[in-house]
Amino acid sequence: MNAEQVIDTDKQHYMPVFARYPLVLTYGNGPYVYDAAGRKYLDFLAGIAVNIVGHAHPKLVEAISDQARKFIHVSNLYHTFPQTELVKALVELSGLDRVFIANSGAEANEGAIKLARKYAKGLSPDRVEIVTTDNSFHGRTLATLTATAQTKYQHGYEPLPQGFVYVPYNDLSAMERVVSEKTCAVLLEPIQGEGGVNIPDDGYLESVRRICDEHGALLILDEIQTGMGRTGKMFAFQHSAIKPDIITLAKGLGGGVPIGAFLAVEKVAGAFSPGDHGTTFGGNPLATAAANAVLNIIAEEGLIENTRTVGEHLVNALEQLKAKYPMLITEVRGRGLIVGMKLTQPGKDIVNACLAKGVIINCTAGDVLRFVPPLNIAKAHVDEMVQVLDSVLAEVR
Ligand SMILES: Cc1ncc(COP(=O)(O)O)c(C=O)c1O
Repeated sequence: MNAEQVIDTDKQHYMPVFARYPLVLTYGNGPYVYDAAGRKYLDFLAGIAVNIVGHAHPKLVEAISDQARKFIHVSNLYHTFPQTELVKALVELSGLDRVFIANSGAEANEGAIKLARKYAKGLSPDRVEIVTTDNSFHGRTLATLTATAQTKYQHGYEPLPQGFVYVPYNDLSAMERVVSEKTCAVLLEPIQGEGGVNIPDDGYLESVRRICDEHGALLILDEIQTGMGRTGKMFAFQHSAIKPDIITLAKGLGGGVPIGAFLAVEKVAGAFSPGDHGTTFGGNPLATAAANAVLNIIAEEGLIENTRTVGEHLVNALEQLKAKYPMLITEVRGRGLIVGMKLTQPGKDIVNACLAKGVIINCTAGDVLRFVPPLNIAKAHVDEMVQVLDSVLAEVR
C-alpha cells in the first residue's frame, strides 16, 4: 500500500469518527516524526501529551524489546515483576496507597468512579452523586462521557448513567452550593487540558478539598493529561498542599504504550473486594515494563526539571508572540509543558499552516492552540517551533 491507498482505505473502512489530516506517519525520532514521503515534522503534540520521552527513545525501545522476548502477556491471576515494580514506584511517587492498572484514560476514570461509588455506598445508599466541571474531559465510555460536562460528547448516547452533576470550573461558590451529603465524589482535572488549558486560581484545589472534607465526599483528580511530570511536578496536585483520595493516570505513563491507572488511599481502596473490578490486559508485563522504563528515564534524565525550564522558555517565547500579534492572541497560559495560547479566532487554519511548514501543534476548545511536546525537548526545539508559528501568524495578520 502506498500513502494514498492508506488514506483511501481508511476513509472507506475505518469508523468515521476521526477528522484525520491527510498525513501518513511512518516513524519518529526524539521530538520529530516523518511521513511516508520522508518529510520531517517537529512534534509539539506528542500523540496528545503521550510521548513524554519523545519517539523511539533507546531505553524505552530496549525495555519493550527485552520484555517482549520474555513474555508480553500473562493474566492478572498471577504476579509479575514489572507490574509490582510499577505499583511500588507509583505509590512512592504519589503518596497514595493502592493502584489498579488499566489500558487507557477512560478506563482509569471509569474504574475510579466505580471505586468511589462502591466506597460511598458503604457510607449511605443515597451518596451517589459525582460532581464534575463544565468543559472537562474524562473519556468516551458511557460513564466517563457523562462525567465529561460537554453536551457535544454526550449527544446521541442517551440515556446516560445517572448521578452526575456539573458546576463551572474554578467556581468555588458553585462547588459549595452543589456538594452535599449526597455527594459521592468531586472529579476534576487539576488543569483542564481538552477544555482549553484552563488553569484554576491558586488555592482552588485546596478549597475543593476542604468542601469535600466538610461533606464527607471524595476528591478524585484526573491527572491523565497533567500527570507524569507534564506540569513540572510528577503530579499536578503536588503544586498544592492537598492529597486527593483517588488519582487517575494514562497518556504519558507508558510513553506511548497503552496504559492507564487509578490510585487510591487505603481507606477508599478497601471498598473493593476480589471480583469487584478487573481487566484482561490491564497491567500486563509489556505495558508495565514500558511504564517502568519511562519512570526511570524521567528520573535519570532530569525531565521534571527540564519541563520547568523549557516550559518557562516556551511561555516567554509565546508571550513575545502575543506582544507582536495583539489582535490575534489574547492570552498565554501554562504550567511546565502544558501550554495554551488563546486566539481571537478559530485556530484550525493556523494548525494547518504550521503542519504545512513541518510543525505539529493542535487546537483545542476551538480557539486555543495547545502545546504538549515531549518532556525531553530542548529550548532550541521551542525556538524552531516558535519561528514557524511566528511566520504563520504573520501571514494570518
Ligand atoms: C484529562 C483526561 N482524562 C481522560 C482522558 C481520556 O483518556 P483516553 O483517551 O486514554 O481514554 C483524556 C484524553 O484526552 C484526558 O485528557
